[in-house]
Amino acid sequence: MLSQKVEQALNKQVNAELFSAYMYLSMSAYFESQSFKGMANWMRIQAQEELTHAMKLFDFINDRNGRVLLGPIEGPKTHWDSPLQAFEDALRHEIHVTSLIYELMNLSQAEKDHAAHNFLEWFVNEQVEEEAAARQVVDKLKLAGDHGAALLMIDAELGQRTAQPAQ
Ligand code: FEO
Repeated sequence: MLSQKVEQALNKQVNAELFSAYMYLSMSAYFESQSFKGMANWMRIQAQEELTHAMKLFDFINDRNGRVLLGPIEGPKTHWDSPLQAFEDALRHEIHVTSLIYELMNLSQAEKDHAAHNFLEWFVNEQVEEEAAARQVVDKLKLAGDHGAALLMIDAELGQRTAQPAQ
């Protein structure tokens, strides 16, 4: 059984993950509009991953006999000045999500909810990968600068990303 505090916090995280999906989809739409098809692909797959994160939380709340309550999802930003700006936003967002997961870990510990604590460890590890993946692209885009050929090479590379089977 979930405590009310943990249940509320997990519901908040469902919303944060759904917002993440919405934000990445908005970035995908931006890249489509700029004909960076590879970056659009990377962002679209990222949006799908965020949905799986939301569903993991959704299922966990239900498995623990909690109640999922969906609230409104904030509207995402719709325009960026450059690919670098969009990926920097993505990295900043992932760092923020990591801090939300850490807060959830602290709360589950304070509430002595070992099941939630154990469940959230998956997210702690996932966030290491999420930050690293975004940072890697930011670093490459910084190196590329305004060099068109380099940007197209990065775009082609990001077009190779394929969806991972849900874990
Ligand atoms: Fe679900 Fe990108 O964190």
